[in-house]
Amino acid sequence: MHLLHIDSSPRQARSHTRQLTASFIEKWRACSPHDTVTYRDLGLNPLPHVSEEWIAAAFTPAESRTANMQAALRQSDELVDELLAADLIVAGIPFYNFGMPSGFKAYVDQIVRIGRTFAFDPQQRDSPYTSLVKGKRMIALISRGDGGYEPGGPNEAMNHLDPHLRTVFGFIGITDIEIVAAENDEWGGPALEASLQKALEKTRQIAAHRTPAF
Ligand SMILES: Cc1cc2nc3c(=O)[nH]c(=O)nc-3n(C[C@H](O)[C@H](O)[C@H](O)COP(=O)(O)O)c2cc1C
Repeated sequence: MHLLHIDSSPRQARSHTRQLTASFIEKWRACSPHDTVTYRDLGLNPLPHVSEEWIAAAFTPAESRTANMQAALRQSDELVDELLAADLIVAGIPFYNFGMPSGFKAYVDQIVRIGRTFAFDPQQRDSPYTSLVKGKRMIALISRGDGGYEPGGPNEAMNHLDPHLRTVFGFIGITDIEIVAAENDEWGGPALEASLQKALEKTRQIAAHRTPAF
């Protein structure tokens, strides 16, 4: 299998999502030493937001694009190629202001591409969109400052990250998504430690046994 390992926290040593993804990859490599991994660091190397040139190019058929349009999409094309080459996406995503951080959103905007990861047919009024990404799985490793955002928790309604991930990756065809979250970074102490250890344990279990999703 080929894995795409993405980190998106601007924090380095203090980042819990980086610790979770590193732990996942370490365990996976120990169990499957012949598998390969591509690494992308959106925290250290942020992507540009989409621009007017980018939008014009993306919505121009590939065969009609000028050299400038092709250049505007070069990085997006590389990111899509990288995504399509992976069987499993392992993404570390901090929880910012009830959703995904802008650095990860910039990535999402670069990989949701008409004609590459989804198709649009205006003749099909009832269902104009088709996902073009097939057979991939994703594990999202999240860290949150507060607690109670889990399914059934008191703050679930304010968790816009989990549903956004499922909607946008589902839109392009990645529906097999496992989410593991650590909580309580803002509180620190035993509350953080307990949540982090639980998330690390679950992460390693998934990496080792490829369960429950894998
Ligand atoms: C800009 C910013 C916004 C944040 N917004 C929230 C929030 O809405 N809810 C929450 O529980 N924690 C919030 N946090 C706390 C982070 O989710 C927490 O620090 C998390 O551990 C970040 O991931 P990292 O450890 O990988 O950097 C925020 C942190 C930052 C820096």
